[in-house]
Amino acid sequence: MFPVVQIVHRPGILDLGWGHPDPAVLPVAALRRATAAVLARYGADALAYGAERGPGPLIAWICARLAHTDARAPEPTDVVITAGASHALDLLCTIYTTPGDTVLVESPTYHLAVRILRDHPLNLVAVPSDAGGIDVDALEMLLARMARRGQRARLLYFVPTHHNPTGVCLSLERRRALAMIAARHGILLVEDDVYRELSYDDPAPPSVWSIAPPGTVARIGSFSKSLAPGLRLGYLTADSSLAQRLIGSGLLDSGGGLNPFVALTVAEVCESGDFDATIAHLRSTYRARRDALAGGLREHLPPECRFAVPGGGFFQWVELPEGVDAGELLPHAEQTGVSYLPGSRFYLDAPHRNTLRLAFSLYAPHQLVEAARRLGEAIATVV
Ligand SMILES: Cc1ncc(COP(=O)(O)O)c(C=O)c1O
Repeated sequence: MFPVVQIVHRPGILDLGWGHPDPAVLPVAALRRATAAVLARYGADALAYGAERGPGPLIAWICARLAHTDARAPEPTDVVITAGASHALDLLCTIYTTPGDTVLVESPTYHLAVRILRDHPLNLVAVPSDAGGIDVDALEMLLARMARRGQRARLLYFVPTHHNPTGVCLSLERRRALAMIAARHGILLVEDDVYRELSYDDPAPPSVWSIAPPGTVARIGSFSKSLAPGLRLGYLTADSSLAQRLIGSGLLDSGGGLNPFVALTVAEVCESGDFDATIAHLRSTYRARRDALAGGLREHLPPECRFAVPGGGFFQWVELPEGVDAGELLPHAEQTGVSYLPGSRFYLDAPHRNTLRLAFSLYAPHQLVEAARRLGEAIATVV
């Protein structure tokens, strides 16, 4: 039999490599209610080819939600419903790039977005980051070097809010600078904003989309983290002319919008109040997990290990002592019963080999403390 789910469990290992939600927090009952309600309300229309942009009720809800969670709301004509953030990125590449175009990617970055970009295939160039996220001065210098060579970048992909893998939130100052640089150079910023709803301390900063000159940013959002990844549902907010180009794609025309039944069902979850209840539960659950892992790391890691506790998202980034290679450490860690992703997976070039990413989304607080203890034990064998 082929499996039903992507995750593969390994007995005896607390595997903090998977950035997946805990199945226990997925809103099964809310979706059962919403599915029945949508079929009762829309009947056969719920099962027809959908409007290319996505169903009106969901678009209206997204606009209203972003009015609260972001610095400004999009117009309904700025929104396109997609089959998740991954699909939004893929669709943008299809419509907006030709093979061989240069695309800038902050480094480190979400490693699976790099796989999508490589599928197209594009010429990927790394933009350096520092502890505060994407380095806007280094970006300016890179663009000047490229211009001297007659090279132009088409897109820049980045994750400014509760970054995967580093957890960093880009400052408002850098967000503004980035928007101005992109506008000046005619680069479309692709802002991956999938963790906006999962902020555990302060509200998420304004998206770059919300503060940039019109037409500079396509922001991609997702219900994978705020409801469930198996829904395969996300959205994009962009200038209405870019949104129109996406809606006019062969894919949306032939398929009649993306996942219209799921999109209507999610609109029902959102309008019924179940979305708010789910988000409140996720925030308190993940906040407790983040804190448990941070506490465990403080207790069990040697003092030369460095980490900053993230304000949201799923990930804790750890810097091991200089000279310790997280890839070489991994077999020792798995022997002690813990796993993670080595940081080198997230760099386009020049990886910092003494880094690793721990996802705190999947396990209960006591398991995360135990994972930290096992990691400390593994590190002690090599330092
Ligand atoms: C930064 C980032 N973008 C996109 C995704 C995937 O989103 P989706 O499930 O909506 O395709 C993830 C999932 O881990 C992610 O961390």
